[in-house]
Amino acid sequence: MVKKIKNNHLFWDGCDTVELAEKYGTPLYVMSKNTIVEECRQLQATFIQKYDNVRVAYASKAFNTMAMIKLIENEGLCLDVVSGGELYTAIMANYPAEKIEFNGNNKSIEELVMAIEYGVGRIIVDSVQELQWIIEICRERKTTANILFRITPEVEVATHDFISTGQKDSKFGIPLEESILFALIEQAIATPEINFYGLHFHIGSQLFTNETHLLAAQVALDLVKKIHERFDYTIRELNYGGGFGARYKEGDERKSYAYFLEPLMALTEQFCSDNDLVRPAIVIEPGRSIVAEAGITLHRIGSIKEVPGVRKYVAIDGGMTDNIRPGLYEAEYDGIVANKAEEEAVEIVTIAGKACESTDILVKDIALPAVETGDLFATFSTGAYGYSMASNYNKLLIPAVVLVSAGEAEVIVKRQTYEQLLQNEQIPESLR
Ligand code: LLP
Repeated sequence: MVKKIKNNHLFWDGCDTVELAEKYGTPLYVMSKNTIVEECRQLQATFIQKYDNVRVAYASKAFNTMAMIKLIENEGLCLDVVSGGELYTAIMANYPAEKIEFNGNNKSIEELVMAIEYGVGRIIVDSVQELQWIIEICRERKTTANILFRITPEVEVATHDFISTGQKDSKFGIPLEESILFALIEQAIATPEINFYGLHFHIGSQLFTNETHLLAAQVALDLVKKIHERFDYTIRELNYGGGFGARYKEGDERKSYAYFLEPLMALTEQFCSDNDLVRPAIVIEPGRSIVAEAGITLHRIGSIKEVPGVRKYVAIDGGMTDNIRPGLYEAEYDGIVANKAEEEAVEIVTIAGKACESTDILVKDIALPAVETGDLFATFSTGAYGYSMASNYNKLLIPAVVLVSAGEAEVIVKRQTYEQLLQNEQIPESLR
């Protein structure tokens, strides 16, 4: 556990958070390197070392920076990117092209060209149009692309509607209708520029049951069999996506990777042996579970307002601009006054952000010690989809990120400056 309380202060991976806030300013994202490494090693032990022909591609949308990509490379994982920007970050971090998987429901021609020219390992094709573009791009360049088709497996998952992706009515994936999916598969098999590897699904995020992964895997496996029967073609790879839930609040029960992966692998191996099929390579794409619990965010407390008989609002120097998740998904977080970490809770307050938006409430009704202006509030489990979804709304600056490890801190993202905020703006001649 990287969380420690000492001398009334919260320590994170050996670093005193009060000192971090003083040195680097607030808001500040603090990522524990040891927690990320531990997650990667869990995946190594429970999946990569345990089964032949499997891979883990870190879904970098959860937290995508050059330093994080280096860390992922050092830990031996592959990388999933979903845009030109994420791919560019990987390229600038010198991440090996062949270990990159490129997802996305609307990749542009420019993004596809970038991916093909860099030589990414897999392109996960999400639409009929996309395949045609890939073929044209490869023909022009006399090259080939390794592809999977992302299918919509038609399973409903138990999570917030906004982060469900496998249901039939979804913008993601290719519909199972044979007239669409099988026509594409037939074309992929027949096209020399295309190395058709297999199928991909991702059913949703923050999941705590393995049932829906198993249902979706069954859909994919049935397709493997059908493709074999129909086209005499052997599917070489299945990608079962990510979605493994992380712990946000005290008392949240996290499921182990083995809880998801053991039955998935058993189902896959059984199905293949029952049907005389070669077991395809199995890839998973976890994002959140690798980084969520590694991260905390430090905010300085500013104005405190009591609405008598109603509620006490404690405002911080950030909020929805560095963590949109409460506002967008009603996500709940735990926190602590980092400079009063040993003090008893005496009141229930609501932590409010500083954006001009009523939904900018970071934590509703949290029990804290007596809070004063100038105190430091730490929110736990902000490592996934915090920094990566940060915005400049109200022209607030994107905070810095420090990576901490056994008492050492290194800046991996510098705080944005006002100058950078305006770097692309200009006043046209007509307004001067
Ligand atoms: N693979 C694909 C194709 C995905 O779309 C996603 C997430 C993942 C993998 C990784 O899923 P994870 O292991 O992180 O659950 N912003 C939302 C989460 C959106 C997830 C989108 N796709 C949130 O903050 O809850």
